Amino acid sequence: VVDVDGNEYLDVLNNYTALVHGHAFGPIVDALARAARDGSVHPAPHARQLRLAQTITQRYPAAELVRFTNSGTEAAVLAARIARRATGRQRIVMFEGGYHGTAPDFVGETADTIRVPYNDLDAVSAVLDNRVAAVFAEPFLGSGGVIAAAEGFLRGVEALARSAGAVFVLDEVQSLRSAYAGVHGALGLRPDLLLMGKLIGGGLPVGAVVGRGELLELTAAARRDSLLHSGTFNGNVLTCAAGEESLRFLDASAIERLNGCAGRLEADIVTAADKSGVAIETTRSGSIIQVHTSGAGRNTDPTMAAALHLALLLEGVYAAPRGMLNLSTALGEEELRRVADGYRGAFARLGALREGIGAT
Ligand SMILES: Cc1ncc(COP(=O)(O)O)c(C=O)c1O
Repeated sequence: VVDVDGNEYLDVLNNYTALVHGHAFGPIVDALARAARDGSVHPAPHARQLRLAQTITQRYPAAELVRFTNSGTEAAVLAARIARRATGRQRIVMFEGGYHGTAPDFVGETADTIRVPYNDLDAVSAVLDNRVAAVFAEPFLGSGGVIAAAEGFLRGVEALARSAGAVFVLDEVQSLRSAYAGVHGALGLRPDLLLMGKLIGGGLPVGAVVGRGELLELTAAARRDSLLHSGTFNGNVLTCAAGEESLRFLDASAIERLNGCAGRLEADIVTAADKSGVAIETTRSGSIIQVHTSGAGRNTDPTMAAALHLALLLEGVYAAPRGMLNLSTALGEEELRRVADGYRGAFARLGALREGIGAT
């Protein structure tokens, strides 16, 4: 990317993981041009919608039916409405540090949402009763700092939710890039509903609720008591055309390469920080890496995070201000070397700065 002053950056933010093939990926641009000639949106089902939905149901084991939205936020809203309708209950359980977009239920603006610590099954168990409609979980805390789920945790949440009669919603908006069949496929989970977004739109606005047929069918327009879910741009054909290509090129070998490259880059980042005497920790899930500047497993030092972000910009690397970076298939060996060099340079700047401060 090039900023308005003409400075060039290698983008390892990729619009917060949505651009898994980078910017202006050739096959997506071509598919968009072809689709645009047919018009961008129609108030009726379209063959391109069907194709993307079929790609999703064939690839992801928990996906029986698909309902498209325009964002992950909207998908979370719809999933909560489906869960409430299906159970006749009101409460939502989610995790501290969890992120499902910015609708009121998910940002602490309603009294219906209970937050419990991630990786704590006892805490989940303690709040599950016959008032809980749904438990929302991410396969790893994404925005919350790329914190992995402990072994057995997600399976435990699924079992607890099921035995309490609550809908288990797994939010794969970020994690879909980590494994060919999603994290639920890799772990053999069977969530009632999945949230999808980001990469299934190939860089265009998108979200989807997918999952058990009997739950998704609650939204079927033909039902007399249908749960109304309309939206002028839901499943627009440009998004569907781009999403189709995005998923097609994110095959098992592309994912394996991305995850492998991310592992090596993470190791390079740790070595570079060590060499410059800058205290960091890293966490990683697939091709998403978090550099924690506090050294305590979380970004508790916003000043250091901001300093690292600025130093990286000076080195020509565009990462998230909160310390997250993620890879796209557009980054070849040469670009990955430049990213690693950028981190080396950034840590050297921070190390020198600290020495300077110490000296005065
Ligand atoms: C796990 C997760 N869920 C939901 C969302 C919300 O998606 P959107 O930004 O498309 O509304 C995000 C966005 O970052 C996310 O990371």
